[in-house]
Amino acid sequence: MSNLLTITKPDDWHLHLRDGEMLAAVLPYTSNVFSRAVVMPNLSPPVNTIAKANDYRQRIVASLPSGAVFTPLMTCYLTDNLDSKELLEGHREGVFTAAKLYPAGATYNSDSGVSAVTKIYPVLETLQTIGAPLLVHGEVVDPDIDIFDREAVFIERVMIPIRRDFPALRIVFEHVTTREAVQYVESQNKGVAATITPHHLIINRNAIFAGGIRPDRYCLPVAKRETHRLALRRAATSGDRRFFLGTDSAPHLDRLKYAECGCAGIFNAPTALSCYAQVFDEENALDKLEAFASLNGPEFYKLPINTETITLAKSQHTVPNEISVSGDRVRVFDPQPLDWAIV
Ligand code: NCD
Ligand code: ZN
Ligand code: ZN
Repeated sequence: MSNLLTITKPDDWHLHLRDGEMLAAVLPYTSNVFSRAVVMPNLSPPVNTIAKANDYRQRIVASLPSGAVFTPLMTCYLTDNLDSKELLEGHREGVFTAAKLYPAGATYNSDSGVSAVTKIYPVLETLQTIGAPLLVHGEVVDPDIDIFDREAVFIERVMIPIRRDFPALRIVFEHVTTREAVQYVESQNKGVAATITPHHLIINRNAIFAGGIRPDRYCLPVAKRETHRLALRRAATSGDRRFFLGTDSAPHLDRLKYAECGCAGIFNAPTALSCYAQVFDEENALDKLEAFASLNGPEFYKLPINTETITLAKSQHTVPNEISVSGDRVRVFDPQPLDWAIV
């Protein structure tokens, strides 16, 4: 294998950009590398109308570094009482690329999420009809369920019933973290796909407690034990078209992460593509990186493949492990030195 790798320019199919100063600070790390990104709607208040999505998209575009060519793909935050018409019209107008299901209380800014999936059955019917994907944060929030089992239980309690009742609905199982989720996706037809983050390919749950508690490695779904990480690596590097890149880059200020009740979320935008390349290299699967990063996502979303390319070079380097925002800092994920650099 040569020391240079040129692939079709990738897209990020799961990204948190936030708003205001944070948006301006983090966006260039994504727009430098990715052509498009599916932008998560978990702002406060959530992005759940056409007007809010249009405004948010405009704020993103206005925050781009000059000369950047980058397309934000907007999503609609599903609530118990979202009107299907908003989704229908938003999709028709090209504002909403997909809709996002956050089980209420499952993760950051999910308080307005869905309390019971049956409440959004009319919306799921609409999504199925128009062919827009449903994106799921796949965890149940029942306090009786062990946090490490939340994703597996979500398959039983939510995925299987939704698939039964809406067999033509296309679903992205976001940021999968378990062997069970990988096997579930593999067992389905082409209607179900999954995104995989760089951090879940690189760390297992031990890393969160290495030498003491490490809030910079805490995200949801929380990293699982090693067998699950290995299952994710196999899926990502297999060439299976149902698995694609979604960084789940989720920046939080230190004062909110290193706090009495610290936020979940890992900011990986500055290192994400290098991390993925490193994982594929370690798995002797660099020839599969382009499919995972740049081809499988657009195929599932029925969008054109990017025409530009990006070149990576195998050369050890480090990047700053924090950025400053609003007089505070945001830690950057984490495995340094990195083996692959973007040329
Ligand atoms: C995300 C965030 O901070 O918005 N956090 C995370 O730990 N992944 C929310 C999410 O994707 O669940
Ligand atoms: Zn999530
Ligand atoms: Zn996310």
